[in-house]
Amino acid sequence: MGKVYYITKNVGLGLLVLAATALVTIIALSIAYNKEKAKNRGKPGHGASYSTSMPTTLTTPFIPKEPWDYYRLPSSLLPVSYNVTLWPQLEPNADGLFVFTGHSVVVFKCVKETDLIIIHSNKLNLTTIYGHHAKLSSLGRANVPTIQKSWFVVKTEYLVLQLHSRLTVGTSYALYTDFQGELADDLQGFYRSEYYEDGVKKVIATSQMQATYARKAFPCFDEPAMKAVFNVTIIHSTATVALSNSKEIVIFVDSVPVRVTTFGPTERMSTYLLAFIVCDFVKIESIKNNNLLVRIWARRKAISDNQGDYALNVTGPILQFFERYYNASYPLSKSDQIALPDFNSGAMENWGLVTYRETALLYDPIFSSIANKERVATVISHELAHMWFGNLVTLKWWNDLWLNEGFASYVEYLGADYAEPSWNIKDLIILYDVHKVFAVDALASSHPLSRLEEEVNDPAQISEMFNAISYNKGAAVLRMLSDFLTEAVFAKGLSWYNLTIRTINVLCLGGCTCITLLLSSVCCQAVEKTPGLHIPHTVHNIMNRWTLQMGYPVVTIDTRTGRVTQKHFLLDPDSVVDRPSQFNYEWFVPIKWMKSGKEQQPYWLLQKTGMFIKMKLSGGGWVLANTNVSGYFRVNYDPDNWDRLLSLLNSNHKALSVMNRAQIIDDAFNLARAKIINTTLALRTTKYLAKERDYIPWESALRNLDYYILMFDRTEVYGALQAFLKKQIQPLFEHFKSITVNWTKVPTGHTDQYNQINAIGIACNVGVESCRELIKSWYRKWMENPNRNPRIHPNLKSTVYCTAIAFGSVEEWDFAWRMFKNATLASEASRLRGAMACTKVPWLLNRYLEYTLDRTKIRKQDAISTIQYIARNVVGMPLAWNFVRARWDYIFQQYGKGSFSFTNLVNGITKRFSTELELQELKKFQEENRHVGFGSATLAMEQAIEKTTANIKWVKENKANVLNWFTEETA
Ligand SMILES: *[C@@H]1O[C@H](CO)[C@@H](O)[C@H](O)[C@H]1NC(C)=O
Ligand SMILES: *[C@@H]1O[C@H](CO)[C@@H](O)[C@H](O)[C@H]1NC(C)=O
Ligand SMILES: *[C@@H]1O[C@H](CO)[C@@H](O)[C@H](O)[C@H]1NC(C)=O
Ligand SMILES: [Zn+2]
Repeated sequence: MGKVYYITKNVGLGLLVLAATALVTIIALSIAYNKEKAKNRGKPGHGASYSTSMPTTLTTPFIPKEPWDYYRLPSSLLPVSYNVTLWPQLEPNADGLFVFTGHSVVVFKCVKETDLIIIHSNKLNLTTIYGHHAKLSSLGRANVPTIQKSWFVVKTEYLVLQLHSRLTVGTSYALYTDFQGELADDLQGFYRSEYYEDGVKKVIATSQMQATYARKAFPCFDEPAMKAVFNVTIIHSTATVALSNSKEIVIFVDSVPVRVTTFGPTERMSTYLLAFIVCDFVKIESIKNNNLLVRIWARRKAISDNQGDYALNVTGPILQFFERYYNASYPLSKSDQIALPDFNSGAMENWGLVTYRETALLYDPIFSSIANKERVATVISHELAHMWFGNLVTLKWWNDLWLNEGFASYVEYLGADYAEPSWNIKDLIILYDVHKVFAVDALASSHPLSRLEEEVNDPAQISEMFNAISYNKGAAVLRMLSDFLTEAVFAKGLSWYNLTIRTINVLCLGGCTCITLLLSSVCCQAVEKTPGLHIPHTVHNIMNRWTLQMGYPVVTIDTRTGRVTQKHFLLDPDSVVDRPSQFNYEWFVPIKWMKSGKEQQPYWLLQKTGMFIKMKLSGGGWVLANTNVSGYFRVNYDPDNWDRLLSLLNSNHKALSVMNRAQIIDDAFNLARAKIINTTLALRTTKYLAKERDYIPWESALRNLDYYILMFDRTEVYGALQAFLKKQIQPLFEHFKSITVNWTKVPTGHTDQYNQINAIGIACNVGVESCRELIKSWYRKWMENPNRNPRIHPNLKSTVYCTAIAFGSVEEWDFAWRMFKNATLASEASRLRGAMACTKVPWLLNRYLEYTLDRTKIRKQDAISTIQYIARNVVGMPLAWNFVRARWDYIFQQYGKGSFSFTNLVNGITKRFSTELELQELKKFQEENRHVGFGSATLAMEQAIEKTTANIKWVKENKANVLNWFTEETA
């Protein structure tokens, strides 16, 4: 599935700080891992997101007795192929229900004697045939056992057939079913999606099978290793097109208005990769590489506005890159990609028919920002990487999901880099994956990448696997492996892996442990054949340390003695780790390092303590370890070396790569949070920023400083903090003014465009007067000519709207409201909705809060996030808190049940809480509303109290120092 995007990337920290948002990693002090998972759920990019908020721990342990009590299928029957015919009705029936009807035959082979047929089927009404739910026949002359009885098991989602006699080993049978299901708008299985075009409501039938929803579309053996060939037929109206994984081969117009579209047999594939779509979309297409048909499908208007062109253009190069990388041609005869309005996850790698939410596939050359474009390139790259890794070669079971998703999350950067070589996108993995997951994986409540197969059984446990650890840590750890093996060896090992697994999959249905195979094949085949590559253990042994135990080490290097030590890094030094590790939380750490600018021989730290050689430093010599953050660990030094690194930053920061500049900042701030170094040392890493022009270090600093802003923006510290930021940001602002020729051009560099957003957002916020004047004048011009908005580049719109409203009055606000009501573009509407929360005028904020509960003003689905935006604003926070407290009953009724955004609401409002009074209010609120309850935010409430307590403590310990430091720096 598509990569997880917790936030829209690059929203521009300017905006964030202005509204004092924090997605910020570092704040994670006491955020339990559970929360992180909850966070994943509602975000785009996450297929399993919507699936459930079901608790996975049962109150009474469930002890399976019968074969159908187990969540895993018995191994007696193996599917060979299916005929599936589906007929979705895009109009409600007489009962007002949207339904689909269908029938299906599955041919399966008996490999172990049994008198039971157990097959997945969920929420389907099966027609009774001769008194049973299915009809069994044999292929060939074998006798067919008769069905004794048949029934459904709701808990394990099975249809069970008890036969009078046993099936014969080696014989194939056909099982026929005829069924009807609801075409619900629940985003699971074969489902309904609705949108408006020119004021007319349109209905689409589409599907999302991963992880366990194919069984909701037709009865099937719904496990990834149960691969089969699918012959799909879809019946639909002549006004629509039907799409599926294979190319359509026969389109037969029955009696008007019904058309029967038949698709060619698929490759042997897993059920979770199936896709069925009926819609009235149009396409653009081209023939790529070797006669491959590439098509991009979307709403008519989107296609006629050229929004699919960019996707079509990058698909060719990306496929080409992966063909070379995997050393295997694209496995199918066509590639369809479709943009669905109202798709909850980011994207889904259905084999040959990839589904996307619109923002992940469509790019408008006039209205979209550079961040939108980057998202399109990386998500396409991620999904297409799966066409081989994941789809052609498939994991045996969901416990190894990290390998599938971590891999795609890593190579998506390589594919996107090939398509857009000028972007330097590979560097951004530091911000998007490594530093992000560092925050989660530094908590005592984290968990290892690998799970045992037995630990992952039911659908809720499966959907829990789709989390930051699998995606982001998986990517970071595979990047480290690729780095110490070199990319060439890694890729070569991979083709061995593909080859082996594929063969094994064909022969024995993936009856092997895939990770072992990947790692041992990388190790044995590729490494052995590479002279000059020395690693201290087998790849398998090295990687076990990173995949079987959670967390990561902080490596401390004492440059005076050459001593190197490692320790499990925990953000909260008082937290207790109760998960045992067979390796005692020690890792085999590949340390790339530099001495005074010269790359040294990499050092492997294999125990708790080691000795660097040739450490002796002369004069101003310095050591920097973890070059380009290729290793998954943090680094600490002796105080002298810290001093030398800081003075290097101040005198010649370009001696270090952008990634290492960002690393020094992020490591220092986090080490300070963990009380390993002083807060002032962390703050000192930001002193050189006045000279910094690159995005990645700036972004890293702003993310880390955001916690300081949240804690102090209502105290006397803020004046000094603001003055310091002003001093640091001013040169960056002037820099952009000059390279954009007085704001008339767009910076050419990819990340420069992001950094321009930061420069403007922060500069205006901390009081650079010329910045505020500039932004106000742009917005004024727009107000004078509302039909044209030419001056404001899409990259800058969010920041400009927010800034103009923050420093404007009711006129600016009301204009934004009018534009919001008239917006035809969803992205424009959501920018304006966010910006209106930026005003500092209390009555405007209160009025806006009232609007959120009026559905004619703010759509229901946007209400909670709007309240959250208001709470991010330092003026809005107490108003939102009062508003929510006063209407808790109502809000709870409307949004409380199972809605993940509810957790965000509590988090959003309490993010700044750092006083005793706030803690008391929070506790009182919890007490007073016990009778109403907190629904899906129950855990969030507990954690808010815990975090507030931690914040109070942190502020107490650090406030004086921080105030002092900022004051001195700006004296
Ligand atoms: C599906 O089509 C393939 C190829 O034509 C065929 O071999 C297979 O038997 C078909 N499956 C079923 C269930 O008829
Ligand atoms: C599957 O469909 C094809 C084409 O309609 C048909 O020839 C074949 O017999 C079907 N297979 C089974 C097992 O019914
Ligand atoms: C399935 O059967 C149940 C019980 O008769 C009925 O309530 C439901 O509407 C049916 N669902 C569909 C999609 O026909
Ligand atoms: Zn994926």
